[in-house]
Amino acid sequence: MKAFIAANWKMNKTVSEAREFLKTFIPLVKGVSDVDIVIAPPFISLAAASEEMKGSNVQLSSQDVFWEEKGAFTGEVSPQMLLDAGCKHVIVGHSERRQYFHEDDGVVNKKIKAARKAGLDVIFCCGESLQEREAGKTFEVIQREVEKGLVDVGPDHLVVAYEPIWAIGTGKTATPEQAQEAHAFIAGMLAGVYGNKSGIIRIIYGGSVTPDNVDTLMGCKDISGALVGGASLKPDSFSRIVHFKKEK
Ligand code: 13P
Repeated sequence: MKAFIAANWKMNKTVSEAREFLKTFIPLVKGVSDVDIVIAPPFISLAAASEEMKGSNVQLSSQDVFWEEKGAFTGEVSPQMLLDAGCKHVIVGHSERRQYFHEDDGVVNKKIKAARKAGLDVIFCCGESLQEREAGKTFEVIQREVEKGLVDVGPDHLVVAYEPIWAIGTGKTATPEQAQEAHAFIAGMLAGVYGNKSGIIRIIYGGSVTPDNVDTLMGCKDISGALVGGASLKPDSFSRIVHFKKEK
């Protein structure tokens, strides 16, 4: 399966900084054909990033989307607008959206369905908090988020990102064993829902991925890629992650 390595820039970089990053980064990954390389800048940089990416092997994603096509929804951006701006993908259900903007599983499901209907590929995020892990609820939480988030959603054009919240931005990566265990659980759930077709869904890991730990994480059986925050903000660092070498 082709690896899927995505940068989630979160609320970082101005439009000119985004352009500057891409001018340096794109040549560094030229010729990489066995990895889907994806970058998700803030909304305001999407059009500029799309221009810079033209003709390259780097794909554009947004970090969020609204579920309506158009109308009186001040501040929101529709799936159609994202497509027109050059996006191929959209991240939905990130834990920061769930935590700071109170997005629940129902909202996440609506966004995924609207994005898919418009023709966007979806990077759907799930993962437990530290409190939930310590209470032994890791699998329960993942199961709920996956079941409810993916109601009436088919297996095509879908990537599932497992992002344990306690590993995001903390420098505390899940061990390869912890990550593999959760990924195997998700793979099993998806197989239960989609049968053989679940094989096309890549399950990627996010949470303090760096050039130093990407090789071991990518060596895990059920990890098909990474969703990278902090370490995707520098061209060299993100390029090294894209050039991972699987390690056992
Ligand atoms: P960090 O890589 O900064 O931990 O962020 C992970 C993340 O949330 C990607 O979506």
